[in-house]
Amino acid sequence: MLKVDQLSKDFGGLQVIRDLSFQVADGERRVILGPNGAGKTTLFHLLTGVKQASSGNISYAGTDISAMDAVGRASIGIARSYQKNNLFENLTIRENLMLAASAATGKSNWFIRDASLHADVKTRIEETAEMVALSDQLDMMVNAISYGNRRQLEVGLALATKPSLLLMDEPTSGVGPAMIDRFHHLLDSLPRDITILIIEHDMDLAFSIADRITVLNFGEKVFEGTPAETRGNATVRQIYLGEAK
Ligand SMILES: Nc1ncnc2c1ncn2[C@@H]1O[C@H](COP(=O)(O)OP(=O)(O)OP(=O)(O)O)[C@@H](O)[C@H]1O
Ligand SMILES: [Mg+2]
Repeated sequence: MLKVDQLSKDFGGLQVIRDLSFQVADGERRVILGPNGAGKTTLFHLLTGVKQASSGNISYAGTDISAMDAVGRASIGIARSYQKNNLFENLTIRENLMLAASAATGKSNWFIRDASLHADVKTRIEETAEMVALSDQLDMMVNAISYGNRRQLEVGLALATKPSLLLMDEPTSGVGPAMIDRFHHLLDSLPRDITILIIEHDMDLAFSIADRITVLNFGEKVFEGTPAETRGNATVRQIYLGEAK
């Protein structure tokens, strides 16, 4: 269980997250919705420890992690896939996954050939590639793969660390309908022992994958409920008027 309790973050007087409380159950798929600038990415920075909250608490699996840094949080299974590209261009998909997996297992991550000897890393790479549907392209150089495949690999890098809580910040940003479809299947196929928080602008995708949805506006939680409840909520409709598909 992830518990966020009265979390706030301000940047020099600008309150970006305001008194935010919510809980996410193990195995849940929680979508975070909100207009541009609502504080969604900032919330993810606070959850991963990339930034420290101004006040409030975060606990995960029964431990208060508020004071824990990003490395500590990664070591207890909190991983994140980035909105911005985070790939090694001149390495293959396999090598990119190997570096992510090696770093997480604590095995050598500075000499690829050495790390490749570790059977558990090898297995993990293959399992991860399978999960993100890149098994057939493992030996392709990243600079030669499609934009869509890059987005899949970004999720793969996070999954290679074997997270129990995976945060995804707009994994489908900039991709076309066919790729959104593929992401839908990918998300559906991820095992339920991974809890997923996802910031997603595509409404159809958000509504179909979410167990529950939390809606932020100006850093505040303005609504939380099932996809059906969210769709029918007047406040949410107002915020998204003209934006919803
Ligand atoms: N380091 C920072 N210093 C000052 N202001 C910041 C900083 N980071 C974010 N902000 C501000 O905080 C607000 C929320 O930003 P955030 O990136 O969390 O929004 P978001 O919901 O992820 O938006 P988007 O949908 O565009 O990705 C914005 O007004 C942004 O300008
Ligand atoms: Mg953002």
